[in-house]
Amino acid sequence: MEKKELLYEGKAKKVFTTEDQDALIVSYKDDATAFDGQKKGTIVGKGAINNRMTNHIFQLLEAEGVPTHLIEELNDRETVVKKVEIVPLEVIIRNFSAGSFAKKLGMEEGIKLLSPTLEFSYKNDDLHDPFINDYYALALGLATQEEIDTISKYAFKVNEVMQNYFAGLGIELIDFKIEFGRYHGQIILADEVSPDTCRLWDKETHEKLDKDRFRRDLGNVEDAYQEVFRRLGIH
Ligand code: TMP
Ligand code: ASP
Repeated sequence: MEKKELLYEGKAKKVFTTEDQDALIVSYKDDATAFDGQKKGTIVGKGAINNRMTNHIFQLLEAEGVPTHLIEELNDRETVVKKVEIVPLEVIIRNFSAGSFAKKLGMEEGIKLLSPTLEFSYKNDDLHDPFINDYYALALGLATQEEIDTISKYAFKVNEVMQNYFAGLGIELIDFKIEFGRYHGQIILADEVSPDTCRLWDKETHEKLDKDRFRRDLGNVEDAYQEVFRRLGIH
């Protein structure tokens, strides 16, 4: 399958149309942004790592009953995916305190939560992706109750599968963000799962192996992405 026209260029990916109305090609970039694009940079090799890691994890998830947009990996950076209508919700699951959660609640980072949490942000850059709840999503017509129920069920399943999988690689899944799309009336997992969208800490040393190294200027950003990729063992 070949790229036709550039449909959309986001902060970390380009999306192209194809000859198939139901399929798109995503092309992952090495560009990195944080804080609504205020901070910009490049993480060399990130595009290929995020592409291949997402596809690897989406395959695991499919096997565990979570439908995804994955059709076929074309090369290091490019993948054919089902064309979905993105549900404008960022779905965030947390297993440990970190990031905005720790800040909001005045907690240290890295405290194990008694149960995983699920939260929604409204995907809207102008508004800085505000935190909303199910009632807001319904009231604003962002999703139906049935869709919210399906999304929540899949999100917890994704958490269970990824927590177990990363544990086997010596990685603690602190939290992550996922997005879903509508495809012929069905809710399926879309977007990506990568060190850009997950907090991944080494289980022993608690070293951060994710985009927080870029967001917080911690150094060794490329090394962290490479280390996660190396542990996946998918060369
Ligand atoms: P937060 O603690 O900043 O709310 O982030 C929670 C998780 O969501 C963390 O794993 C990073 C991820 N995330 C994104 O993927 N995109 C974003 O724009 C933000 C703010 C967070
Ligand atoms: N990528 C997002 C942005 O540029 C934020 C983040 O991941 O921290 O706003």
